[in-house]
Amino acid sequence: MTRSRIAGSGRSVPPKVLTNDDLARMVDTSDAWIVERTGIRERHILDPSLAASDLATDAARRACERAGVSPSAVDCIIVGTVTGDCPFPATATFVQKKLGAPAGGCAFDLSAACAGFLYGISIADAFIRAGQFKNVLVIGVEVLSRIVDWTDRSTCVLFGDAAGAVLMTAGDDQSPGRILSTHLFADGGQAEILWQPVGGSREPVTPEAVAARRQFVQMNGREVYKHAVRNMAAGARTALEANGFKADDVAWVIAHQANLRILEGVSERVGIPMSRFFTNVDRYGNTSSASVPTALDEAVEQGKLKTGDLLLFAALGGGLAWASAAVKW
Ligand code: ACO
Repeated sequence: MTRSRIAGSGRSVPPKVLTNDDLARMVDTSDAWIVERTGIRERHILDPSLAASDLATDAARRACERAGVSPSAVDCIIVGTVTGDCPFPATATFVQKKLGAPAGGCAFDLSAACAGFLYGISIADAFIRAGQFKNVLVIGVEVLSRIVDWTDRSTCVLFGDAAGAVLMTAGDDQSPGRILSTHLFADGGQAEILWQPVGGSREPVTPEAVAARRQFVQMNGREVYKHAVRNMAAGARTALEANGFKADDVAWVIAHQANLRILEGVSERVGIPMSRFFTNVDRYGNTSSASVPTALDEAVEQGKLKTGDLLLFAALGGGLAWASAAVKW
């Protein structure tokens, strides 16, 4: 049976670090408050001269290198992002050009916020199993620093910039990195608990909208928190059940790094101890679609993942959109 497999991963993280103490000089907050509520200690901010496609291309190049696949052989590029270079064309098309992937391959963005990378994995898996594309880059990239209101302490402390990528290709039932399952979910009834209201066709950018600061991320933190714990846990359980696995079978959970308390809530509900959750939210903050592939790449780099390990992925974000995946490493 043809399976898709993750052949290599890469990440790109901007060098500039913004610490909680830096934030405490900008808004009325403190390192103690942020660490206690979120587990975040610092995040990275992209230089103003660069855009999402620059970060994404860097991560993609590393993923290609790790996979031993030349960018010239990449026939599909999927970019999960809510902070692309511009409303159109797709950031993936800029990545195609910058990476040196051949024109004539396909390149598109998808909007599923923090679940964007797992949505992308699911689409890539279907493409590869159907034989439609051979070497698919799935990238999660965010430059959230550009859409965060730096005067709003309830949101600006949470987010950071980064990109993560994987190169996926065909394999079989024995191949390391093979995708066992993906599950995708959404609940449009919750669309307005986490969104960026202005900048699209519904509310175009106007001086009034900008004066009301509605071009920035708006969030009902408490509601998002409840849905995140409940739905990421449910998605993770669905992945286990679909494959006949138990919580004890899971070697590593690589979940969306929204905040540590959310991950602890998921850990409790799914019955997998925090010692088996890979976490890097303390150093990156919430990087939305970039968080899962960035965490995966760090886990690989740190030698944490052994061949044959069962990996459980889960993410939730604006939409609400959420997803899970089971991967045999
Ligand atoms: N520093 C200090 N005080 C703050 C800050 C801050 N940065 N932000 C808010 N407060 C204050 C509030 O003003 C409020 O003060 P008040 O009681 O005087 O009104 C108090 O802290 C409590 O505010 P709450 O919003 O009720 O705090 P809560 O305990 O819910 O924590 C948080 C807020 C951390 C945002 C939490 O709701 C959360 O984690 N939500 C999930 C949000 C999230 O992760 N979003 C990311 C995108 S979605 C995703 O990736 C899953």
